Amino acid sequence: MQDNTFWWRGGVIYQIYPRSFMDANGDGIGDLAGITDKLDYVASLGVDGIWLSPFFTSPMLDFGYDVSDYRDVDPMFGTLDDFKALLEKAHSLGLKVMIDQVISHTSDQHPWFQESRADRTNPKADWYVWADPKPDGTPPNNWLSIFGGAAWTFDSRRRQYYLHNFLTSQPDLNFHHPEVRQAQLDNMRFWLELGVDGFRLDTVNFYFHDAELRDNPPVPAGEAKTLGAPDANPYTWQRHVYDLSRPENLDFLKQLRALMDEFPGTTTVGEIGDDNPLARMAEYTAGGDKLHMAYTFDLLNAPRSAAYLREVLERFQRLAGDAWPCWALSNHDVVRSATRWGADEDPVAYPKVALAMLFSLRGSVCLYQGEELGLMEAEVPFERIQDPYGKVLWPEFKGRDGCRTPMPWENAEHGGFTAAGVEPWLPVETRQLPLAVAAQQDAPASVLSATRRLLALRSAHPALVEGDLQLVDVGEELLGFVRETGDERILCVFNLTGEARETRLPIPVSEALDGHGFTHERDGEILRLPPYQAAWFVL
Ligand code: GLC
Repeated sequence: MQDNTFWWRGGVIYQIYPRSFMDANGDGIGDLAGITDKLDYVASLGVDGIWLSPFFTSPMLDFGYDVSDYRDVDPMFGTLDDFKALLEKAHSLGLKVMIDQVISHTSDQHPWFQESRADRTNPKADWYVWADPKPDGTPPNNWLSIFGGAAWTFDSRRRQYYLHNFLTSQPDLNFHHPEVRQAQLDNMRFWLELGVDGFRLDTVNFYFHDAELRDNPPVPAGEAKTLGAPDANPYTWQRHVYDLSRPENLDFLKQLRALMDEFPGTTTVGEIGDDNPLARMAEYTAGGDKLHMAYTFDLLNAPRSAAYLREVLERFQRLAGDAWPCWALSNHDVVRSATRWGADEDPVAYPKVALAMLFSLRGSVCLYQGEELGLMEAEVPFERIQDPYGKVLWPEFKGRDGCRTPMPWENAEHGGFTAAGVEPWLPVETRQLPLAVAAQQDAPASVLSATRRLLALRSAHPALVEGDLQLVDVGEELLGFVRETGDERILCVFNLTGEARETRLPIPVSEALDGHGFTHERDGEILRLPPYQAAWFVL
C-alpha cells in the first residue's frame, strides 16, 4: 500500500454494483454479505479500494440511486451490521471502502419530500425546487429530465411543479437552502464516523440550479452535443447552462472538502456530466480545496481510436494544472468497453491492451466489476429490461441493464451468482459463462491474469502511479506518452488496433519493462507492435 493519506492519488478503485456481485441469501439479488465473501478475490487483483454503488434504503425505482434513508441499509442488501462486517473485512485486507452518496436528489418516499410536498408553508417547504406553473399551466421553463420528458412534475397538493433531473420519483433538493446543505453534510459525517474511506459523489455538478429558472439555450446546429447521454435523447439538444454546473457549487464543494479534511486519508470522486466535462473536472479537482478526483464520460462513451484518446488527453493536459482525474472505461451506466470498443474481433487480446492503456494513464482509475474478465455487454431481452431509462428510449437506447447483469463466478447455472433454481433479478449472460472467474483464475493467458500482472506493474513503478504525463508522437495509429516522476521516466506505447504497427521511437530508451505478458520487437529505433500489444520502456 502507498502512504495512507494519499492512497487515492493514482489508486485503482474497483467498482461493485451490489445487486449483481454475489447473492449470499439466495433471493436472486446480490447483497452485502455476498460482497464480503468475495473481498479476498477483489484484494487478489491488486486494487487499492472499492466503490460500492448505493445499498441504502430505497424504493429501488432507479436501483438505489433514489434514497429514502441515507443512514441505513436496504433490507434487500442486509443490515448496518452487515456493512460494518464488510468494512472490517475490507480493511483487514488492506482495501479502502468508498460508498456512493446520491445527495443531489432523494426518493419521493424520503420523509423530507413527504413533508415538503404537503403544503407551501411546512418547515421543509423550500427543501426541494418548487415553482409555479406558467399562466397556461405548463412547466416553469424548458429544462428536460435525462430520463425522458420535462424536468418538472406537477403536484396537485401544492399546485406547483417540482424539479427532477432524472425520474419523477427523484425530486431535486434545493441546495440554495442552507439547511439542505447541512443535512446532507451531516449524513456524510455519519458514514465517515463509521469508518468509510471516501465517497463517490453522484451527479456532483447537478447540486445547484439557476435560482431564476432561466431557459436553457438550444445546441446550435452543427455543434457537439452533451456527453453523458445517448444521442437518441433530446436532453442532448440543449446547452445545459442553467440546470447544472452553477457557480454556487464551488463554495459547497469547499464546505464538503472541509468535512473530508477532518478525516485524514478519506477521499472523494465526483461524477461529472457536462457540456465541457474536462474543464469542469479540472475546475472541481484543482487547488486541493474541493474534490480530490472526478470522472467524466469522455472515455466511458469513447470510440476506440488512438486519435480520439490523444485528443482527450491533450485537451485535459492543457487544462489540468494540479487537477486530478479518475479515468474509467466502464461502469454501471454505459455499454461495457469490451463491446463498445469491438473486442468481438479478439475477446482476449483486446481487453488486455485496453486495460494496459487505462492503468498507464495519469490519474486514478475506476475498474468496473467484470472488466477484469473482459466481459462483453449482455443482451437483455425487452421483457426482462429493468432500467426505466431503457424502457423510455427503447429500441434506440436499450438502457443500462446490459452492463448490470450478475457477475459470472463459475461456468455453472447463473454463473454461481445465486443458488441453483433461483431466478436472478437480471439474467446471467450465457456468453459470459466461459469467461467466469473460476475459468480464468489459473490461466496465465487470461484477461484476469493480465489484470493482476498489469496492476503489479503499475504499483511497482511510481512514475505510473503518480507521474506527470506527456504525449509523444508515435504515429497516427498508436498512442504514446511518457510518465515521469522524480528520477523515473517511462515511455508507454499502445497498439489498440488489430494490425501490426511500426513506429520510430521518439526518444532514446534503455531497457523495456517486462513481466506483463505483452510482446514487441525492437530494431534500434524502430518499434514493432503486433496487434493489441503494448510496451513500456525505461528512459
Ligand atoms: C448517476 C448514476 C446513475 C443514476 C443517476 C441518477 O448518473 O450513476 O446510475 O441513474 O445518477 O441518480
